[in-house]
Amino acid sequence: MSTTPQWIMIGGEGPESYNKNSSYQRRLLEAAKEKMSEAITAKLSLDLISDRFGVADFGCASGPNTFVAVQNIIDAVEDKYRKETGLNPADNIEFQVLFNDFTTNDFNTLFQSLPPGRRYYSSGVPGSFYNRVLPKESFHIGVINYALNFTSKVPEGITDRDSPLWNKDIHCTGFNQAVKKAYLDQYLSDIKNLLDARAEELVPGGLMLLFGSCLQDGVKMSETFMGIVLDIVGASLNDLAQLGLIDQKEVDSFTTPLYFAEEGELRQIIEENGKYTVEAFEDIIQPNGEFPYLDPKILADSFKAIFGAFLSAHFGIDAMRKVFELVEVKAREEFSHIRKANLGMQYLIVLRKN
Ligand SMILES: C[S@@+](CC[C@H](N)C(=O)[O-])C[C@H]1O[C@@H](n2cnc3c(N)ncnc32)[C@H](O)[C@@H]1O
Repeated sequence: MSTTPQWIMIGGEGPESYNKNSSYQRRLLEAAKEKMSEAITAKLSLDLISDRFGVADFGCASGPNTFVAVQNIIDAVEDKYRKETGLNPADNIEFQVLFNDFTTNDFNTLFQSLPPGRRYYSSGVPGSFYNRVLPKESFHIGVINYALNFTSKVPEGITDRDSPLWNKDIHCTGFNQAVKKAYLDQYLSDIKNLLDARAEELVPGGLMLLFGSCLQDGVKMSETFMGIVLDIVGASLNDLAQLGLIDQKEVDSFTTPLYFAEEGELRQIIEENGKYTVEAFEDIIQPNGEFPYLDPKILADSFKAIFGAFLSAHFGIDAMRKVFELVEVKAREEFSHIRKANLGMQYLIVLRKN
């Protein structure tokens, strides 16, 4: 089987970049900030807050959301320290922030846009977070925001026309049980590797904060907002193939390494791993809804920032741009359907290493 390319976001700070089109992902960090701070206050032992404190963001992309994630954590740790010791954290604690993503991530943009006035030292940590990327016990709080839906590869057989697992759709719709199982098996193995690797790298008692979205139990991907838009991306690729602009065979064998777990699956994976205590598993409801500014253009632009580099790697940049022009048109036609679709669950999961 061919290897799956690293799925990175569109880099830079231009109009198509992830940096400029990722407010959807940032809103969850903001909406869950208070609950996250409460969890840090209640579940992080004061003994762990001493002279050097490590924070690591896995799947950080090129900013700016990662800066929000790490600053929220640092604020919460400093607050706890100040309240419980009466001391000024600035006099006693130095923070080191480790920014992890694939080697091909745009780390230049990330480091050039580090917030001025920050009170932390920064390092880049390249490599897949499904492997060990840091020495043992090297950080105290880790965070992952919207990066747990990417599997390390497309499961075996899915892109092979002769296999019983061949999937003509560009994602796991959830309707074909054999395809769903192949994706779930890949996901289980990936998340186990991730939890095992972080358990080595975290100090005992350290926290992992997971933010992202999953499916409600029993809901199929194709019934969700995200699944409908992915189907529109697939339909747009087929339109381009019909026009002779890309090869139909390549479209038929194109599938994404994406899996959106059901809530129950996610809970089970974590519990079976056994290396952490689940301190919180919260459904984060946003006061103005998940999409206060949603329109077809915003939708096409945000999906382009996430999917654009991956599609370009397969079909070239011109085809990718045409796909997202079509996505905007189709999203406009199907907008009422999209608005009514199941949104899934946006979660904050707090794990404490045993
Ligand atoms: C949707 S972006 C989220 C970025 C950022 N956390 C945020 O909140 O905006 C997902 C990020 O995860 C990264 N990613 C996906 N799989 C990864 C892996 N196996 N190892 C490291 N990074 C990964 C991608 O490169 C991308 O930057």
